[in-house]
Amino acid sequence: MWWGRIGQVRDEFTADLDPVERQRLKAYVRAEDKARFLLGCTIVRRVLASRLSLPPASIRLERACPDCGKPHGKVRSDGIELSVTHSGKLVGVAVSDRPVGLDVEKVDPGLDVDGLARLSLSEAELAALPQHDGRARAFTTYWTRKEAVVKATGVGLRSDLRTITGQPDGFQVIELEVDPGYVAALAVVSAEPLDVRTRSAQVLI
Ligand SMILES: CC(C)(COP(=O)(O)OP(=O)(O)OC[C@H]1O[C@@H](n2cnc3c(N)ncnc32)[C@H](O)[C@@H]1OP(=O)(O)O)[C@@H](O)C(=O)NCCC(=O)NCCS
Ligand SMILES: [Zn+2]
Repeated sequence: MWWGRIGQVRDEFTADLDPVERQRLKAYVRAEDKARFLLGCTIVRRVLASRLSLPPASIRLERACPDCGKPHGKVRSDGIELSVTHSGKLVGVAVSDRPVGLDVEKVDPGLDVDGLARLSLSEAELAALPQHDGRARAFTTYWTRKEAVVKATGVGLRSDLRTITGQPDGFQVIELEVDPGYVAALAVVSAEPLDVRTRSAQVLI
């Protein structure tokens, strides 16, 4: 797992992007969205480049969306499993030999927990949510675990999140410590013990 912060972004990173990535970068209106996307692309490209001893710009990435075919789906590259996530100032990239899903969310204390929880939590999870203090954080923790699972398979939010609870069959799901005010989870499709290593994107930059 590689973690970066949007303050690490530099304009020159755009030099390594492919035409699809340039198009998507241009389409983002807010500077923070541009920075999150650019840093995600840069981490993916630089990690794969160093593993393959190739220049970052030469890495071929595929992002076809399973719904519409446009290049905004799970990022894929031959022979390696990847997952990208961004929220607030954080950008995370998981690189694995097994299908992997990573999700980070900045906890929003003003979140409409009731509305979202009914659509996405199981009965048991709903009952276990704290009534007041920590409610948004507890909900967001469930949410990132579920998203990590659906991101591992590439299905994304088309799944009924209410049915994705605990450790679904075949998955290992772990909660991650990231920055204060954020929650994150990692899901891996594997029965083997996980060996998770966390690195700062700073060394790539
Ligand atoms: C994928 C999804 C779970 C992302 O959730 P999010 O919390 O908003 O965003 P995150 O920052 O955590 O993740 C975004 C990354 O997920 C990846 N991703 C996109 N679709 C994905 C999918 N179906 N499965 C796994 N990963 C996916 C991409 O790498 C994306 O990064 P990028 O924008 O830099 O390319 C959510 O957007 C989704 O389910 N999308 C599918 C349904 C949909 O909206 N389809 C598009 C319209 S056709
Ligand atoms: Zn789509």
